[in-house]
Amino acid sequence: MVIKKVCCIGAGYVGGPTCSVMALKCPNIVVTVVDKSRDRIAQWNSDKLPIYEPGLDEVVKQCRGRNLFFSTDVNTAIKEADLIFISVNTPTKTSGNGRGRAADLKYVEGAARMIAEVATSSKIVVEKSTVPVKAAESILTILMANQKPGVTYQILSNPEFLAEGTAINDLVHADRVLIGGEDSPGGQAAIEELCWVYEHWICRRNIITMNTWSSELSKLAANAFLAQRISSINSLSAVCESTGADISEVARAVGLDSRIGPKFLQASVGFGGSCFQKDILNLVYICESLNLHEVATYWQQVIDMNDYQKSRFASRVIESLFNTVSGKQIAILGFAFKKDTGDTRESPAIHVAGKLLLEGAKLHVYDPKVEHEQIMEDLTHPSITEEPEEVRKNVVLYNDPYSATSDTHAIVLCTEWDEFVKLDYRRIYNSMMKPAYIFDGRKILDHEKLEKIGFTVQTIGKRLSRTVVPRAWASIVQV
Ligand code: UDX
Ligand code: UDX
Repeated sequence: MVIKKVCCIGAGYVGGPTCSVMALKCPNIVVTVVDKSRDRIAQWNSDKLPIYEPGLDEVVKQCRGRNLFFSTDVNTAIKEADLIFISVNTPTKTSGNGRGRAADLKYVEGAARMIAEVATSSKIVVEKSTVPVKAAESILTILMANQKPGVTYQILSNPEFLAEGTAINDLVHADRVLIGGEDSPGGQAAIEELCWVYEHWICRRNIITMNTWSSELSKLAANAFLAQRISSINSLSAVCESTGADISEVARAVGLDSRIGPKFLQASVGFGGSCFQKDILNLVYICESLNLHEVATYWQQVIDMNDYQKSRFASRVIESLFNTVSGKQIAILGFAFKKDTGDTRESPAIHVAGKLLLEGAKLHVYDPKVEHEQIMEDLTHPSITEEPEEVRKNVVLYNDPYSATSDTHAIVLCTEWDEFVKLDYRRIYNSMMKPAYIFDGRKILDHEKLEKIGFTVQTIGKRLSRTVVPRAWASIVQV
């Protein structure tokens, strides 16, 4: 089989950028991305794409209508494709067995059933969505149970490692492409077909192949390791705040050990995003299902530490503002889970803002890319408040950082957008109530300069000169 047509089910943060880059790099392949959401597909076909991702617009503009198509006609796309990516979302289950931890595979299963129903020729079906180990087996069972004469299936696992905000670069210059398949002649042939697609732009030695289960577990493992580094550095940031050590210095010293390396050691208000928490919870659930309770507890700690970090930061804001934020005006700068994306899934800003609202604060929120409706939707979600109407009254959304910070008691910086570093903080200070506070949850600002202007500054993992030393520690620090 020579792959001429590719279909991708799910036009989200993963399916959209991945297929756009594939279309760019493989002009000889027609790539059709389908989605059940008419709105989403209409946006992909418009000038304003449904997701913000640096460089994506240019790629889509080059390929759309040439060999890249976005459509809601799922059946035709499946029927015509030689290779189908399943890129639907796999959220954490909200009810039933494994609630709050296990991945909900209903959309993946739905996609498999749809393929089984409409396929009239043989297909290679590729799991792109992050799934629990052995999910490929379930997909195959569904397909085989509904197999038509003359139609065969091969299932591959090909997890995606792109990070939002750098997706295009991550896809074009992938560290590695991982392909898992069955150890049979048919499985190996399917692996070769998918390798051929990637070899259009990825060097063969960076394409690694393995059995399906190893591939599925590798994706969960990669995310767990990355998140674990953040929780490790964040745990030490708490020690720094209590002792006078500086977490940036510690991270630098530790990261210079080539065995450890410097990446993913940036202490922060906590990690967010659609993947880390979901995938670790999924890993924890798998371990528990396998009766590996110690392993489950070990990974659960990565999530617990992240929850602690978010809470600790919000509590510090409240304690510093004389133990009450009731009726106080607080500016939240940044709402996305990281810079260069408009995505707010599991954003630490939601947790921090939610806690401040619960304590009666009035929030002024500004983010350069997140849609206003999204911010309101996140803050009025039942997991954040039982009084959505109150929240609506107490949250004002702004289109520029200067109006957002004017007349506030404090600024709480939750996302590391570059534009926040360059703001005119003297102007901001002059427009704020005094004493004026800044809580830098991302460690991106020039704290000394801010203190000179007059701000009281607090950040993660470092005690600044005006920070009050907790009584219990005062003697140790003096020694
Ligand atoms: C991805 C992965 O696929 C997920 O497993 C990973 O862990 C996180 O990233 P993502 O692309 O971020 O998901 O999800 P999302 O942006 O929600 O996109 C999924 C798309 O699939 C949505 O547009 C949704 O409408 C579509 N979908 C979902 C379908 O077309 N059909 C369905 O049955 C379900
Ligand atoms: C992650 C993985 O990096 C990617 O390989 C996988 O495919 C999907 O999940 P993503 O969630 O998009 O990507 O972004 P990432 O850059 O990993 O950041 C996740 C969170 O960790 C963000 O909230 C970020 O601000 C935070 N982070 C990251 C830190 O707090 N400190 C760091 O040093 C790095």
